Amino acid sequence: MEAILENAVEHVRGALMGDSSGHDWWHVDRVWKMAVRVGEAEGADPLIVQLAALLHDIADWKFHGGDLTAGPRAARAWLESQAVGAPVIDAVCAIIDKVSFEGAGVATEMPTIEGRVVQDADRLDALGAIGIARAFAYGGHDGRPLHDPDSAPVLHASAEAYRNDRGSTINHFHEKLLLLKERMQTRTGRAIAAQRHAFMESYLQQFHAEWEGRL
Ligand code: ADP
Ligand code: NI
Repeated sequence: MEAILENAVEHVRGALMGDSSGHDWWHVDRVWKMAVRVGEAEGADPLIVQLAALLHDIADWKFHGGDLTAGPRAARAWLESQAVGAPVIDAVCAIIDKVSFEGAGVATEMPTIEGRVVQDADRLDALGAIGIARAFAYGGHDGRPLHDPDSAPVLHASAEAYRNDRGSTINHFHEKLLLLKERMQTRTGRAIAAQRHAFMESYLQQFHAEWEGRL
């Protein structure tokens, strides 16, 4: 297990180092460590959890011409080059396939505890001080305005509507980030999310107070 994980780290670090959209190697490193922490508390299989955490952003659809299958396919191709059994490969790829948030109105349930652990760990990195930094990094990378007081947030009813949205980063807080606390799937994840959520709420209050000249 140690050797496979070391190979995975090297593979992912090489692929994602230098990214400036919030999907860099250090995002994966944080998700990996959080997944280990949550996974231990929840009694999840450590190999499946760690491989899924390490490979979850190896080929995000946003950076692969909108191809939703690019992530699981890239993960499978790499895992098949390693000494990993077929059941583990299937479990890891199923998690990567379903890990993403797809809009306010779209349920993204995970059938396994390993999947719930990795999804929570990934979502925790979208919250709190780091989540705020990543949201603005992604918004800048994608050419989105910081804030547009004339456009209201949209609670997307479909994954397609969510993916095609071009709104501001402040709207993204209402369209995704502030919804995550209620959608955590593990007890450990929920507890950590509550604290990070409160920090984002107070950040937004300060943001709007400054924007409106009240502070
Ligand atoms: P993850 O890597 O956690 O699966 P995403 O790929 O959806 O999540 O997003 C990566 C980061 O970019 C997250 O912090 C997310 O909130 C942020 N992000 C995604 N879409 C937007 C957007 N439209 N505006 C601002 N930030 C975004
Ligand atoms: Ni991620």
